Amino acid sequence: MARRRIIAGNWKMNKTPSEAKELVALLAPLVKNDDVDVVYCVPAIDIVPVAEAVAGTNVMVGAENMYIEDKGAFTGEISPDMLVDAGVKFVIIGHSERREYFKEDDTFLNKKVLKAFEKGLTPILCCGETLEQREAGVTLDWIRLQIKSDLQGVSAEQAASMVIAYEPIWAIGTGRTATSEQAEEVCKAIRELICEIYDEATAEAIRIQYGGSMNAGNAAELLSMPNIDGGLIGGASLKADFAQIVNA
Ligand code: PGA
Repeated sequence: MARRRIIAGNWKMNKTPSEAKELVALLAPLVKNDDVDVVYCVPAIDIVPVAEAVAGTNVMVGAENMYIEDKGAFTGEISPDMLVDAGVKFVIIGHSERREYFKEDDTFLNKKVLKAFEKGLTPILCCGETLEQREAGVTLDWIRLQIKSDLQGVSAEQAASMVIAYEPIWAIGTGRTATSEQAEEVCKAIRELICEIYDEATAEAIRIQYGGSMNAGNAAELLSMPNIDGGLIGGASLKADFAQIVNA
């Protein structure tokens, strides 16, 4: 069974609500493509206006983060129920920027993954190595450790429905993309790990994205690899290039 492609934009901390509406309007006619899942993962304050703006189109809304509790005294945090009520379908979990700047570790990220599933949100779980790790030859060990830890207690059925994004940290926002061979090697290893933890059917169903300086110029080649089912796009998701990636 062919896996459906999924192209997600990660807007990061960009676009005010007014700017977000302008960007959605600019992209709307360009990203119409029934063969691909298109997701805009946007800052919390943009979720409501973006959800309104994409209603009735093929685009789905994602969050860039969420908290692990249902409600209560967690000043500044956003609960999964709030996201669901606003129309969010996907949530990015474990982006390297959250791991680095907000000190989110795998024990905490595992709680986020489980909470997302409990609430009916689809996690886009990120993993990736630093340049030092790649040069030391421990990339695959590191990725395996991240994914195994983050998926503790996740059922095969849940895993089959989720998205994993392989994002080498040295390729994020640097303009230095992994080669398609490098990206494929890791995405293939992730699928093999899913087969090891669960089974063949789960490994065949799970969707694996590449992320890290993906753009209109390199997307087609990366997306042609057998184990790369889509992309998580940062910088290029904020302009018309995003539509070229969707259509690649
Ligand atoms: P980039 O970011 O496309 O700007 O490299 C990707 C990401 O961080 O998800």
